[in-house]
Amino acid sequence: MTVKFGDLALQYRALKAEMDAAIFRVLERGQFILGGEVEAFEKEFSAYCGTRHGVGVASGTEALYLSLLAAGVKPGDEVITAPNTAVPTASAITMAGAKPVFADVLEEDFNINPEKIAAAATKKTKAIIPVHLYGQTADMKPVLEVAERLGLSVVEDACQAHGAEYERKKAGSFGDFGCFSFYPSKNLGAYGDAGFVATSDPAQHEKLLMLRNYGQKKRYYHEIKGVNGRLDEIQAAILRVKLKHLDEWNAKRIRIAGIYAKNLCNAVTLPATIPGRKHVYHIYAARTRNNAERDALKKFLEERGVQTLIHYPIPIHLQEAYADLRRSEGDYPVAEGCARTELSLPIYPELSDEQTESVWNKVNEFF
Ligand SMILES: Cc1ncc(COP(=O)(O)O)c(C=O)c1O
Repeated sequence: MTVKFGDLALQYRALKAEMDAAIFRVLERGQFILGGEVEAFEKEFSAYCGTRHGVGVASGTEALYLSLLAAGVKPGDEVITAPNTAVPTASAITMAGAKPVFADVLEEDFNINPEKIAAAATKKTKAIIPVHLYGQTADMKPVLEVAERLGLSVVEDACQAHGAEYERKKAGSFGDFGCFSFYPSKNLGAYGDAGFVATSDPAQHEKLLMLRNYGQKKRYYHEIKGVNGRLDEIQAAILRVKLKHLDEWNAKRIRIAGIYAKNLCNAVTLPATIPGRKHVYHIYAARTRNNAERDALKKFLEERGVQTLIHYPIPIHLQEAYADLRRSEGDYPVAEGCARTELSLPIYPELSDEQTESVWNKVNEFF
């Protein structure tokens, strides 16, 4: 039995009638940029997140970038984040002209270690981007405390955490800005690039609406310098159909994670759900005991038809593109350990029980 890492066509087929109707509704209406679908989705998804406002944008990267601009981050400033994230977290910081500064993460949840933030801060630090990696939030209470103490804006990178919770509050509702990606394979995914910023601050909401649309509120009257960072009507219509299924899909992911946890042999370190948090398993990040074992397991599974991925093989401070930051191996040992030993097993709502069994069986067979 082959098990793909993801299969987006399965989800489309299950929703085909409703999805086709939503897409054709936009085509028939003939308004493709900033219309009723985007506006409705902004209300629906911000209500889902528990924020007062939300702004549909072009991607998760754009959500982070525009949030940093709205927070007043300027060239020469510094922004603290985790080194073991998708590269766009750092791209957004450099797009704003700022410098990414890293704080190492915790072994138990792979997320930023709140105790390392203060030591990474300088006079130039303006913001913190806690990343809710793999679908579990960072430890937000101490992150917010240190941000408050140091006077820093908090831009949550919730790009992998649609519906995740921390003390019963949704990811994206803690910081000044909650940034989401709707990259197709996300727990809530569009059929192209799309993103979102959730905020409860009315002034920041207004600013984001302008920033994403050439800095204008009224057409051709540009109050600030902005960009084209808009979500489009077709993607918004698609996301409105899918949002209704998000909780049910997350529940399926959580169920599959439970099956893995029950059956995987104890040579594998399972991803832990920290008490008080709801992990929505965007990624099922298992860990092996060392790098050679991880690579051998990946190869073993591949040869037997099970696709896996590594999130992420090289932490950002060791990427060639970020050599100018002058960081080296050993600077963030926990994040580097994750990069050496992490292996992501398939997890998505359409994964059948037989496929799930085939995955854990083959992992156990390897050991
Ligand atoms: C943690 C994280 N941050 C940022 C992004 C960027 O999102 P996008 O690909 O929509 O620009 C992603 C997704 O790719 C992500 O996983």
